[in-house]
Amino acid sequence: MSTHNIWIHKGTFLLAAVGSAVGLGNLWRFPYLAGENGGGAFFLVYALTIFAVGIPILIAETMLGRASRRSPIMGMRFLAHTHHTARAWTSIGWLGGLSAFLILSFYSVIAGWAIHYTWQMLTGTLAGADAETTAAGFDALLASPTLLTLYHTLFIIASGLVVGLGVHQGIERGLRVIMPALFVILLVVLAYGVTHGDFTAATDFLFTFNIADLSLAGWLEAMGQSFFTLSLGMGAIMAYGAYMSGEVSLTRTAIAIAVIDTAVAMVAGLAIFSLVFGAGLDAGQGPGLMFVTLPLAFAEMPGGSLIGGVFFVLVLGAALSSSISLIEPVAAYLVERFDLTRPQAVFIMVVATWALGLLTVVSFNLWAENSLFHELFGRSAFALFELLTNILMPLGGLLIALFAGWVLTHSEVMKEMRTNTTWFALWRFLVRFVAPAAVAFVFLRAIPQIDGYLIPAIGAVVIVGAFAAGRTFLTDDNQAP
Ligand code: TRP
Repeated sequence: MSTHNIWIHKGTFLLAAVGSAVGLGNLWRFPYLAGENGGGAFFLVYALTIFAVGIPILIAETMLGRASRRSPIMGMRFLAHTHHTARAWTSIGWLGGLSAFLILSFYSVIAGWAIHYTWQMLTGTLAGADAETTAAGFDALLASPTLLTLYHTLFIIASGLVVGLGVHQGIERGLRVIMPALFVILLVVLAYGVTHGDFTAATDFLFTFNIADLSLAGWLEAMGQSFFTLSLGMGAIMAYGAYMSGEVSLTRTAIAIAVIDTAVAMVAGLAIFSLVFGAGLDAGQGPGLMFVTLPLAFAEMPGGSLIGGVFFVLVLGAALSSSISLIEPVAAYLVERFDLTRPQAVFIMVVATWALGLLTVVSFNLWAENSLFHELFGRSAFALFELLTNILMPLGGLLIALFAGWVLTHSEVMKEMRTNTTWFALWRFLVRFVAPAAVAFVFLRAIPQIDGYLIPAIGAVVIVGAFAAGRTFLTDDNQAP
């Protein structure tokens, strides 16, 4: 699958995009962030951003990919050129590449936890365990840099192999099974949560909206999560859009992705919170939430070892189909720009992210606190990467919305969207005004709250972005047509 290739089946974009969207973001990140941020208020901001901001930007991002038929960096350069506008728009691509590194580096470590639990389930280690035992088991996992590194390495190699060898065929067929199966097992877990846990407390927690529960940092986390869960704002969807057949409806596809993705997150959230409240666990316990509560349910469920084992294998499948979408945009760029082979490009990306991932590994043990890293940035590397993700993805989405809304011409957009003028007008209003205003609103409120240590990190990002943009200005033949 190189540039200008187009997927053979019309449905492949939807499948690939759902594969990218549904992942650890739904199963692990959504419940843990909602639990830390008071539940309902978080859910409200998250859901509103998905529908008012996420869907329009999803359409915009796919459109940029399909209109350019190139990897995000080269594609934005191409579009800026053909629309006689500033090459600085290429920074959308550069920011996306940077986010891809950051996200994949911690994503792979977390996916590694699922490898550990697959093993624990299938060997029956946790059968009959109580809440304390599962919690202690999780703490022991986090305390071991060796184990975490081992799993991180395994996962990133697997992702690299899929993208590098181009086994998309296999992934395509696999996803058709993995996604529905995952959903069914989630429903089984939910049914168990309803009968054995406290479902009422879970619905109260997730659907009682008291906006005062949400701190300013929580606003940023909710918005960041809605971009994260849709894989939005960093070029992954653009890269996939570049391979999308010209005939498929962007609007319908985008709505389908958002609805499926939200449904998975809601089922996962309800299942996990039923178990949390049923077992008297703490909803705000952080990143371990899913890995402590679900093994507990499987430990008590009849046939739980097997069901749990299958569940974690499916989680790995969902995580894998997401991680390949994080590798794809950068790999496609390296192939296009430096004429590397696909395996070479993937190798470079994987080795670099693997190394960066070690910072997340030590965030849970050696450098959990009082490290040099804390002194510099005021938090662990993992927390810093998550924070940067919450900033970079909406920022990328904002720029994508502005470009699609203000730079692309009316006829181009109509050609891509193939809708009537009412839908077009609604979409354009959302990307021109609503999405940028919403992102700016949350940024203006939340970012000043972030402590001063972070200024160097954000400064570095801006400098890299400016440098990249400047480079494109300088190296390109500046002959405006
Ligand atoms: N959306 C994925 C999830 O929810 C994560 C992911 C995959 C992603 N590709 C991405 C996030 C690109 C941001 C950008 O697990």
